[in-house]
Amino acid sequence: MNFELTEEQIAIRDLAREFAQKEIAPIAARIDETGEFPRETVKKLGELGLMGIEIPQEYGGGGLDCLSYVLTIEELSKVDASHGTIVSVNNSLVCFGLNAFGSEEQKQKFLTPLASGKKLGAYSLTEPQSGSDAGNMKTRAALAGGEYVINGRKSWITSGPVADYIILFAATNPELKHRGTACFVVDTKLPGFEVGKTEPKLGIRASATCESTYENYRIPVSHRIGNDGDGFKIAMSILDAGRIGIAAQALGIAEAAYEASVQYAKERSAFGSRIAEFQAIQFMIADMALRIEAARMLIYAAANKKDRHERFTREAAMAKLYASEMAEWATSKAIQVHGGIGYSKELPIERYFRDARITTIYEGTSEIQRMVIARSALEGK
Ligand code: CAA
Repeated sequence: MNFELTEEQIAIRDLAREFAQKEIAPIAARIDETGEFPRETVKKLGELGLMGIEIPQEYGGGGLDCLSYVLTIEELSKVDASHGTIVSVNNSLVCFGLNAFGSEEQKQKFLTPLASGKKLGAYSLTEPQSGSDAGNMKTRAALAGGEYVINGRKSWITSGPVADYIILFAATNPELKHRGTACFVVDTKLPGFEVGKTEPKLGIRASATCESTYENYRIPVSHRIGNDGDGFKIAMSILDAGRIGIAAQALGIAEAAYEASVQYAKERSAFGSRIAEFQAIQFMIADMALRIEAARMLIYAAANKKDRHERFTREAAMAKLYASEMAEWATSKAIQVHGGIGYSKELPIERYFRDARITTIYEGTSEIQRMVIARSALEGK
């Protein structure tokens, strides 16, 4: 595999980097503190073409490849992981799904405004009783007179409180379990949809996460994506793409923690020398550098397989598992290198630590990724 970046990939990476440093860095600490959703910067990211990077230009996207998407999420997350989450969800959990499974009419109506950043999207699979066991959904979509009537409660919806459209999964034939599910596009302005409680989170605090309820929410059949019965498989395919994005987010957070640690080690003195001269510090820095590069290779390999239009379920699970656990470890080590000041809100290190924690949980926990990898190894799935 050749990971030498093309001119186009370098250009989008630099665009994301420059925007993150100029527009996001000045507000990152404040929005982490307040939990305020960054509407202005998200709007500008849409204008820059970063909300539908892999989507064909005819549907409002950038027409670029998955590695370009990875580089963008990495750069944004290096500065602020909340922006990384918002952009990742819109790109992969929403636009990727619509592009892969939507009809021409759905692409015109929903994908084009979402990929061009004029509208914001969310993805809604999880329910209070079903997170990892995603097939066990209770939200019901009943077909009646040419439309579906939806009732139920969903949870942990990233960007849910501000989304215009939501990719929703619901049971149409509960007795068929996962084979009795379907995928829909929900217009959040229509009656019957309500935003529920917003989660008070440990990290990625500026990315709004909420519950939602559906009470006799009526949706035309034309808002169903794919066939009735295919909902679970669509949800899983979309999550494969999403997991590459979360891996890239974890990589970006870890890189930020690493770069801050290198700089601090060179500046800080103890016992008459710079702490960078102590082997205890050097070994932490060396292991951080090593694991970051290993994560990068796994992520780029997964993106490469996706770009070759081959199934990338296993590669995405490996990339997410390794990168997220690495980020959790690296941000903890970054606090260790910094000592007391790393634990203080005066520096962003403690934010990196809190933000990294979610990457081992959402879009499939580390345990789920291990299940996916093991099934691929043992059952050839
Ligand atoms: N792509 C396509 N099809 C897939 C697939 C994939 N990646 N994975 C499974 N399938 C298919 C299987 O082939 C099988 O098909 P058949 O019906 O033809 O046999 C069907 O789906 C059922 O598969 P399994 O038997 O493997 O299903 P399972 O119930 O054992 O679950 C699982 C498998 C991997 C554990 C899955 O449930 C899973 O990934 N769980 C985690 C869910 C998750 O990531 N949730 C996060 C939600 S998003 C979020 O975090 C919030 C946010 O806003 C960011």
